[in-house]
Amino acid sequence: MTNATPSVGTMGSREMIDACMQHSLFSWSATGKVDPMPIARAEGIYLYGPEGQRWIDFNSQLMSVNIGHAHPKVVRAIQEQAATLAYAYPGMATEIRARLSLRLAELVPGNLNTFFYTLGGAEANENAIKAARLYTGRNKILVRYRSYHGATNGAISLTGDPRRWPTEPGMPGVVRVMDPHPYEFSFGHSEEEIVANNLQYLEEVIQYEGPKHIAAMFIETVTGTNGILPPPKGYLKGLKALLEKYGILLVCDEVMCGWGRTGKLFAFEHGEIVPDICTMAKGLTSSYLPLGVMAVSDPIAQHFRENVFWGGLTYNAHPLCMGCALAAINVIVEEKLVENSARMGELMRSHMERIAAKHRCVRVHRNIGLFGLIELRKNAAGDRLVPYAGSHPVMAQLGKFFRDNGLFTVLQWGTVMCNPPLSINAAQLRESFDIIDRGLDLVDSVVTD
Ligand SMILES: Cc1ncc(COP(=O)(O)O)c(C=O)c1O
Repeated sequence: MTNATPSVGTMGSREMIDACMQHSLFSWSATGKVDPMPIARAEGIYLYGPEGQRWIDFNSQLMSVNIGHAHPKVVRAIQEQAATLAYAYPGMATEIRARLSLRLAELVPGNLNTFFYTLGGAEANENAIKAARLYTGRNKILVRYRSYHGATNGAISLTGDPRRWPTEPGMPGVVRVMDPHPYEFSFGHSEEEIVANNLQYLEEVIQYEGPKHIAAMFIETVTGTNGILPPPKGYLKGLKALLEKYGILLVCDEVMCGWGRTGKLFAFEHGEIVPDICTMAKGLTSSYLPLGVMAVSDPIAQHFRENVFWGGLTYNAHPLCMGCALAAINVIVEEKLVENSARMGELMRSHMERIAAKHRCVRVHRNIGLFGLIELRKNAAGDRLVPYAGSHPVMAQLGKFFRDNGLFTVLQWGTVMCNPPLSINAAQLRESFDIIDRGLDLVDSVVTD
């Protein structure tokens, strides 16, 4: 036993993996069955292993390292903030809290000018539940099935996907509804018809649940892990108007789709609306440090000037994390990464089209900015390779191929996630899709006629 802390970078892959698996639990997994990649350092769009292995980070880790890894301006800002004021108790005013809040009020659209700081997305949503209930005096929350809102008790109850199942019954008062496009446009309806049908159905649900009992509806503005699903045209405007009619707040969860991911700073800007509450995390600091935010509209902020906001965290408004956020969002703005996301998103679509034309295994592909996926099929009829929440052995082979050939991404059910850092350039995008192109030969070989 040694009492010296070894310097960073002395462990090889095997030693690192073995110790992590022996003494730490991995999320959403049986720890004995995980196969973690050993990561020693990262820079730009690349991850590096202890023995010099290099992988393209084609998922920005958890769709969160929006500016790319190890940006020197953010590293320096963290160092400077740590040396100046690493922590202050949440009841204090600090310069970094003032500066970040002013910058957010400038950048976040509409009347979302007041911010409650947390340590991540789930906590931002937990506090949004509280704010909505306290502000409206109502209890119920509407949510959609194709959604993920975080792993804490309230946030996982809002979540529609299978990660909710083991923790049920969860928080009372959640009413789950269908998404606007449950049938994937397959019945030949126009987007306008799909929106009208869905909103009519939603209004009926609101009547059955009692409008005066519903505080808010939470949506991922563009659904993330449940399938990268941008809303159909007109949905956001129609939804906002319908909810307003009944005094129900709209909460846009932009934890994943915010901060430039979709080619706009916030995804709700595509629908020309401003929600009553917007939650964020991930791209806010590009995940260099943990920080989440609940942004509230002026009327809600005014309410909490007179009435207590019953929420608190030891790490609320954490100066070190806020220093990181201010630097990271300034990089997004100064380096025009939102614009790059929109431009590279167009290029991503053309690579996907090229790949879809070549590979019989591609069922559909879609992207909005640098938020995309390729979904795979198992037969010429177009049936999904992997049913909802299922698996297929070829997906593990595909994952291994990518890893052996220098690409990291998440393979969710039967999809290949395509969510690189917003700083990616055309050559790097080409390099990534060339690896995907070669990997999909494996899947083609299991597709039946
Ligand atoms: C849309 C959305 N909301 C909330 C969360 C939860 O955020 P966190 O993991 O920071 O608690 C996530 C995480 O992936 C997310 O994608």
